[in-house]
Amino acid sequence: MSSTTDGIAAGSHAPGGAAPRLDADAVRADFPVLARRLAGDRPLVYLDSGATAQKPQVVIDAESSFYETLNAAVHRGAHQLADEATQLYEAARETVAGFVGAQPDEIVWTKNATEGLNLVAYSFINATAGRGGRAAQRFALSAGDEIVVTEAEHHANLVPWQEVAAHTGATLRWLTLTEDGRIDPASLDIVTDRTRIVAFTHAQNVTGAVTDVAPIVARAKEVGAYTVLDACQSVPHLPVDLGALGVDFAAFSSHKMLGPTGVGALYGRRELLADLPPFLTGGSMVEVVTMESTTFMPPPARFEAGSQMIAQVVGMAKAAEYLTTLGMDAVAAHEAEIAALLLDAVRSVPGVRLLGPDTTDSRLATVAFDVDGVHPHDVGQVLDARGVAVRVGHHCAQPIHRHFGVHASTRASAGPYTTPDDVAAFAAALAEVRPFFGLEA
Ligand SMILES: Cc1ncc(COP(=O)(O)O)c(C=O)c1O
Repeated sequence: MSSTTDGIAAGSHAPGGAAPRLDADAVRADFPVLARRLAGDRPLVYLDSGATAQKPQVVIDAESSFYETLNAAVHRGAHQLADEATQLYEAARETVAGFVGAQPDEIVWTKNATEGLNLVAYSFINATAGRGGRAAQRFALSAGDEIVVTEAEHHANLVPWQEVAAHTGATLRWLTLTEDGRIDPASLDIVTDRTRIVAFTHAQNVTGAVTDVAPIVARAKEVGAYTVLDACQSVPHLPVDLGALGVDFAAFSSHKMLGPTGVGALYGRRELLADLPPFLTGGSMVEVVTMESTTFMPPPARFEAGSQMIAQVVGMAKAAEYLTTLGMDAVAAHEAEIAALLLDAVRSVPGVRLLGPDTTDSRLATVAFDVDGVHPHDVGQVLDARGVAVRVGHHCAQPIHRHFGVHASTRASAGPYTTPDDVAAFAAALAEVRPFFGLEA
């Protein structure tokens, strides 16, 4: 391993100019919780990073150091601590913006990706209700307008658009899926000049399928529709440049990218955020308040009402720095190797059906499957008894499960700290599931 001064395991460059390689054992050592032993003194095999990622020591330290050395509210006080906290908070915005190819004033802090997606959705509702003045009218919707989502969406990027349709009279339509669960490019012809919004996932949280963003953005631009990208699963695992992707809005969560819970970010193109009416209102986002009315600050402050989650913002920026030090190309290359191993593991066990693409192309190391004759909760318990942590259930994505003809599944999902040994332990445990229930191996 190579190590930076603050203990970050850095990606090392392979000879011959190949992509940098990541030393997963060294990375693993940066994550204190991964040293735990459980289930009868077995090493923890954490394959639930798609739900939430583990945190490296530098992130934990960044958060606690904020409280130990300068805890103060931002953009409010006249004292030194408040000033230092504000500087740190805004420096974090610059770091996270840089991490995703955005400008700092295009990044709004939110509680998580869900809140970011709701912020955009409710802006359309508010604009339709006449809020936000003339500038916001570009976001007003009416009957006859269409909102296009996909059957691959996490509920966080589906339910808010159902709400928008219910509030505005617009019609919800959706792109369908190929047999292996990718967004079907052939269904793009439902995007027409009636379409006002196209909201879609960058990386699917059940199948790990990575969306080819370019044709969807190109089609949306052709018809003058706004694009909203759910980047919650892509930003932690792939190099993502939102500016280059050309989307209008995007949302992601800190806790999935090795950062703290309680914070996420909404990206919005500067000129769009400028015209967007506020979502949450109250302190810290206003200019002049009288008893009758209020004028609002420019973005991003307009969208950051109330006291902010400053320690978490600082921790999220540290997570972005940590990932940058590993190198997102190295992270993606490592996780592609893990994806291949996970796919082999699932394929090798009789009675196990993969849900999603049977290839390492354009996919994350997120692999969902169905074990014939065994409910996913039972699968999860057998694996847990062997120290293997996976996610079971519908993963907040019921429509894509319906597409595969199941109600629920078991999902193994990796992070930069996942090692081939983790996958071997998972494979061994998975092979024991059907025999445990007296079914043929
Ligand atoms: C693809 C995707 N979108 C959105 C979300 C919502 O993220 P959060 O719960 O952090 O708001 C998740 C979380 O699982 C997700 O996987």
